[in-house]
Amino acid sequence: MIVAPSILSADFSKLGEEIKKVEKAGADWIHIDVMDGNFVPNITVGSCVVKGIRKITNLPFDVHLMIEKPEKHYMDFINAGADFITIHAEATKCMYRLIKEIKKYCKVGVALNPATPLCGIENVVNEIDLLLIMSVEPGFGGQKFITEILPKVEKAREMIDRKTYLSVDGGVNDKNIIFLKKAGVDVAVSGSYVFRSKDYRKAIEKLKI
Ligand code: DX5
Ligand code: ZN
Repeated sequence: MIVAPSILSADFSKLGEEIKKVEKAGADWIHIDVMDGNFVPNITVGSCVVKGIRKITNLPFDVHLMIEKPEKHYMDFINAGADFITIHAEATKCMYRLIKEIKKYCKVGVALNPATPLCGIENVVNEIDLLLIMSVEPGFGGQKFITEILPKVEKAREMIDRKTYLSVDGGVNDKNIIFLKKAGVDVAVSGSYVFRSKDYRKAIEKLKI
């Protein structure tokens, strides 16, 4: 399992240190949640933060854009050093073009909210590097994992080839990770479980199954 701690739950007064700590504790990627207060109710960080933390680690940056019209902003995040840009299928009317465009510069992912069916992306699955299934309603860290999405995760695994990462985001912890593993998930995004634990290394180890 690739473990991608979500910095949303990190202590922002010492973000650099927190990133170094999870890196030392075995994190594989850093997951960065970008929220615009429109697509989701919350506002978080912009590309300048991504640019700032790019200087302190070489870990891949998995940038999750929870923003309306990602076509207006994706380039800022690529220039800031994103390795993956994930857009929400619900947030754009030009998904195909946007995927093709992002692919010129970095890896591209598509995310689906819990209520969004897989059928909306069946025509683009061969174009993407990562499929992100949300296991909470996006917007906030620390929410409860929605168990009902597990059949969708299993279906998603059948739909995409092995080269495409299957990622799950929201409420992931040491209890539900076993079900995600069984469903064929490659990437566990985890915010509060990792950053609220006393020992980051132990928490990350428990997700690496
Ligand atoms: C939710 C974000 C998640 C979130 C994960 O909108 O996309 O990445 O921060 O945090 P936890 O693991 O606390 O649900
Ligand atoms: Zn996320």
